[in-house]
Amino acid sequence: MDIPEYTKASYLFDGIAGSVLPEEMLKTIQSFITTENIYLSATREIATKLENLNSEFKYSSERNPIHSIHTRVKTPVSIVKKLQRRGLEISVESARKNLTDMAGVRVICPYIEDIYLIADMLLSQNDIDLVRTSDYIKNPKPNGYRSLHHIVTVPVFMSTRVEIVNVEIQIRTIAMDFWASLEHELYYKLADRRTESISSELKDCAEEIADIDKRMQNLFNITINPNNK
Ligand code: GTP
Ligand code: MG
Repeated sequence: MDIPEYTKASYLFDGIAGSVLPEEMLKTIQSFITTENIYLSATREIATKLENLNSEFKYSSERNPIHSIHTRVKTPVSIVKKLQRRGLEISVESARKNLTDMAGVRVICPYIEDIYLIADMLLSQNDIDLVRTSDYIKNPKPNGYRSLHHIVTVPVFMSTRVEIVNVEIQIRTIAMDFWASLEHELYYKLADRRTESISSELKDCAEEIADIDKRMQNLFNITINPNNK
């Protein structure tokens, strides 16, 4: 892939270019800033597609298969840290080639079946290409983590070119998100105090939550959606 010349966010460096910061370093910083903007655009495109699907459902089925959508773009610091951790070259080109989660979209759905419904509808759009799927719902992680992950590409239309950008889409239920959010916090807060019994308790919680997700799906199927079992 040809990496184009990045347009320069030179106004950010008024008065310091070439004097306080060396020219080469400035170029690297500028390329991270302009890349961040392209990836931000990619998350907006995916979020808009999801919002459009959700609002179509509101009219056709009088319900929303999406509860909420969150987007984020990895900060330059966390991009550099991840490249460093993986022993990869530290540059925008390397990040774009090797990191598939610089642009992230998290979709929270009420029910398990909504996850697959939304994923299928999104993937069937002809400007979206699937790169990789990890179905941690059918195959939960050993710690109990559940979620459907898709890495996709989406075209971002710029003033003079089209950029094909990787986006990581995580789709999960409200219940899965509840567990993942608390587990994430505990994981970092506990750091070196994590024990076997804490991990096993967390895993038990994940199993109970998964069971509740299934029971809620059954309730939905026999009440709101009886013809579509
Ligand atoms: P990363 O280098 O962390 O991106 O991992 P990966 O490239 O192997 O991808 P993976 O599918 O394992 O995880 C991607 C993302 O899913 C993570 O950055 C988290 O946001 C989320 N995730 C994965 N595993 C867990 C987990 O055990 N707990 C929580 N809370 N989140 C997780
Ligand atoms: Mg990640």
